Amino acid sequence: MFSDKTYKQRRDGLKKLMGGGVLFFPGNNEAPMNYPANYYKFRQDSNFLYYFGLDSAGLNAVIDADNNEEIIFGDDRSIDEVVWMGPQESLSERALRTGISKTLPSNDLTNYLTKTISSGKKIHFTAPYRSDIKIQFEEWFKIPTGKIISESSEKLIRSIISQRSVKSDEEVKEIEDALNISYEMNTLAMRYSKPGVIEREVYGAIEGIALGMGRGISFPVIFSVRGETLHNHKHENIMREGDLALLDSGAESNLHYASDITRTFPVGGKFTSPQRDIYNVVLQSQLEAIKMIKPGVLFRDIHLHSAKVIADGLKEIGLMKGDTAEAVAQGAHALFFPHGLGHMLGLDVHDMEGLGENYIGYSDTIKRSQQFGLAYLRFAKEMQPGHVITIEPGVYFIPKLIEQWRSEIKHADFINYDKLEGYLNFGGIRIEDDIIVTDTGSRVLGKPIPKIVEEVEAVCAS
Ligand code: GLY
Ligand code: MN
Repeated sequence: MFSDKTYKQRRDGLKKLMGGGVLFFPGNNEAPMNYPANYYKFRQDSNFLYYFGLDSAGLNAVIDADNNEEIIFGDDRSIDEVVWMGPQESLSERALRTGISKTLPSNDLTNYLTKTISSGKKIHFTAPYRSDIKIQFEEWFKIPTGKIISESSEKLIRSIISQRSVKSDEEVKEIEDALNISYEMNTLAMRYSKPGVIEREVYGAIEGIALGMGRGISFPVIFSVRGETLHNHKHENIMREGDLALLDSGAESNLHYASDITRTFPVGGKFTSPQRDIYNVVLQSQLEAIKMIKPGVLFRDIHLHSAKVIADGLKEIGLMKGDTAEAVAQGAHALFFPHGLGHMLGLDVHDMEGLGENYIGYSDTIKRSQQFGLAYLRFAKEMQPGHVITIEPGVYFIPKLIEQWRSEIKHADFINYDKLEGYLNFGGIRIEDDIIVTDTGSRVLGKPIPKIVEEVEAVCAS
């Protein structure tokens, strides 16, 4: 945990932003896999971690901003639980670590909430994303599951986002700790991905590194020679000479801050000439995007610039044609780059996405586009110092999408469909780094992970 001062400051800041009311934070419970006592690895809710730091199941917390009272609800381990799971500090001792002196048993929570509601006080909460907590909400608040979102507190959502969006130095250090693990995961994958190796062998080794060095992964590892599937969670291909392997992965620090890195590398150790050409287009797009980052710039403008670099590069190769600005304005580049340039990163790999993506990345003036490709941009608004964001452009050759657009003669003024025939088995390339917005520009976080062609080839050969 951070020191109690950090959590107190965060809660005081939240009380100030809210101006009053009772704020309710459900912690996560253990989640059964295949029978009640066989659990997935525990992951605490990120808002709970942010304001209370306590990393165990079965806790809930309340901040009464009217009376300046904070309570953790939970139970000490019974002797049977100590026998099976080991001893644990008492709840009151653990609560003190986060600067809270009042604890109550879990059984008191329903009564506390019912009394608070009947006293006419407003209880603010954000909508739960786990089914067990949605069911508990029915008991606590008498709200049917279908109504939870409309009853959740927009003011609390906006207040949490305004705090969590700006990362402190100690948070950045955590992200960089996770990035140290990413360095090892990525360079191991580059070395290990040789012809004849099955994807799952690399996948297992990557996750093993994260488990061995830290708390594990920040999202299920995406690793495949079929990198054109953006989130490919199948790992059964036997890798062959000439394949490109795409690894999109992240680790968690001890305090659960995430890293998120993508690298694409040649299985045989050397990029072919067409692979190198496309790779350098993606790399140039990423480097130019990173250069543009500074406070006050709209992330959407950086996304669009990145798309233009890709369209220009593909024009040089002969896959696109026509006026670049017009091609990007019409969304023709999205055949190759169908996703957004990046997202916020923090305690969640898509930071705070559970609170609602539009609250995080859009505003009253910056609205989400409906256009294919641009619609997937998770973050579009102005950047501020302390934002941590990913920059992850890509170029993909998705046979089904190409077939569909070709049959519809879509954007034929901008796409050379005939030349694309030779690329249907190419796969995909994405390059991703994690960046902090500083007062004057930006800084790429973590120890640099090889991404220049020669550097990548050197690691693959080692
Ligand atoms: N790392 C997966 C994603 O950004 O969607
Ligand atoms: Mn990402």
